[in-house]
Amino acid sequence: MGDPRLLRIAQPVQRFDTDELHLLVRDMFETMRSVNGAGLAAPQIGVDLQVVVFGSGNPNPRYPDRPLVPTTVLLNPVITPVGAEEDEDWEGCLSVPGLCGKVPRWLRIRYTGFDPYGDPIDRMVEGFHARVVQHECDHLVGKLYPMRVRDFAQFGYTEVLFQEIGVAQDR
Ligand code: NI
Repeated sequence: MGDPRLLRIAQPVQRFDTDELHLLVRDMFETMRSVNGAGLAAPQIGVDLQVVVFGSGNPNPRYPDRPLVPTTVLLNPVITPVGAEEDEDWEGCLSVPGLCGKVPRWLRIRYTGFDPYGDPIDRMVEGFHARVVQHECDHLVGKLYPMRVRDFAQFGYTEVLFQEIGVAQDR
């Protein structure tokens, strides 16, 4: 947080299925998994492209009680809220280490975009899956979750907020 590359509007991917793109995706998954992240957006590793990865086939040590989200690479995403219902829950971010805050998100969304081969993705999701997608896609429009926190009494150091249940697992 503080790096101007996290505040840009990312460029759409123009060419699919290139070596460069596949390399980027591999690098992003490696980075995400090395810090047990739920997702990662290209701007977080300094790449100005509309690419996000998220999901895990196994329970995530950072979010052990959360439902599984399918492993996904999403390019040039568009999010549309489904209904007006919101949901507030805790979020952290690998670009904001050590902190977490309660963030409002749409409860249900439809998201569309493309995979690295240019094949379309079109899903209706809710809950944690919807939250992860909204968090990652925010990185593509220069938004970090603290910009969406409404109640700063619910923003702080993970190890202080959650000391009694030992959830503090940020890097
Ligand atoms: Ni993040």
